[in-house]
Amino acid sequence: MEPLFEKLKSNAVAHRQCIILPESTEPRTLTAADKIIGDKVADIVLIGHADEIDAKVKELGLTHIGEARIINPDDEEANEKYAQLFYELRKSKGITIEDARKKIHDPLYLGCLLIKNGEADGQVAGALNTTGNVLRAAFQVLKTAPGVSVVSGAFIMILKGEAAKLYGQDGIMVFADCAVMPDPDEKQLAQVAVSTAKTAREIAGIDPVVAMLSFSTKGSASSDSVTKVANATAIAKEMDPTMKIDGELQADAAIVPSVGASKAPGSTVAGHANVLVFPDLGVGNIAYKLVQRLSGATAAGPVLQGLAAPVNDLSRGCSWEDIYKTIVITCNQAINRK
Ligand code: ACO
Repeated sequence: MEPLFEKLKSNAVAHRQCIILPESTEPRTLTAADKIIGDKVADIVLIGHADEIDAKVKELGLTHIGEARIINPDDEEANEKYAQLFYELRKSKGITIEDARKKIHDPLYLGCLLIKNGEADGQVAGALNTTGNVLRAAFQVLKTAPGVSVVSGAFIMILKGEAAKLYGQDGIMVFADCAVMPDPDEKQLAQVAVSTAKTAREIAGIDPVVAMLSFSTKGSASSDSVTKVANATAIAKEMDPTMKIDGELQADAAIVPSVGASKAPGSTVAGHANVLVFPDLGVGNIAYKLVQRLSGATAAGPVLQGLAAPVNDLSRGCSWEDIYKTIVITCNQAINRK
């Protein structure tokens, strides 16, 4: 594991949290859970049927998973309190108690309700479910943290080789939004900047220097998108006057000192950025995948930022090691929240 993850893991071990895994018969998830329990990183709650989980555990030859708590999503009597809770949370949206009782059978929703009820600290899912389904359950039940308007998704980019010497803080950069909002407006983009600076500090362990990216640097081109990024920069500065942030900047002006000095003279951010905020999800998602594939960087995430309690989404192509790291990140988000 990278040094950053060793550090996050030690912190998780020291402040043991309880994490829910709703995809309880998925082999990579069970393998990760077994190692997490064995390493004393977190307590685990599995949502599913004990007999099905047991059969899978035997097949995989796992030894620690017996310590996990199991919640049966089809035990209507035991789960009535969660149905009532969901009904209270969503009745203003027109749902009935019968709708709520049906929803509780969905492990993604039941997991979020356990967190809302104070029985666990975070949730990790997505090895089987789509991003949209994982996110919607979290949005509806947990909602955003106080003072945060929207949730977004950041990737911690751990650079390799020469790139690690040239860019980021000790080769670490944070990119966002790469996972959630297809077309953010200027206020939402400003929120992404503020949330990502927090993730950079609390999870990636770097001192954030934020560049709001565009195809224009300081008015070199004009379009609605350029105006949006420039306005978002101004709003973000108002939201957090202490944040080191500048925009709009092109990517080279943001990270290459000589280009930054010539295109944005006087900027303390240009040429030194380690947090990159993209103008929309199309750019952010494509950019992180290209950097990951073309440079061999590790892309850890998406780290969902801005939720009232941490829920993180996995790629359906993930390995058990990815799930292990995502649980470690989720524990750290939960610790920082307290
Ligand atoms: N932050 C906070 N709350 C939100 C956000 C957000 N960014 N987006 C939607 N919501 C809330 C809505 O306000 C709504 O709340 P309410 O029901 O209490 O009023 C609730 O979530 C549900 O909203 P919907 O309209 O049903 O959901 P929507 O259609 O907006 O979908 C979603 C939200 C699922 C996140 C959608 O924007 C999406 O699919 N985004 C792209 C996800 C994706 O595919 N990413 C790329 C893959 S991930 C990767 O490659 C790493």
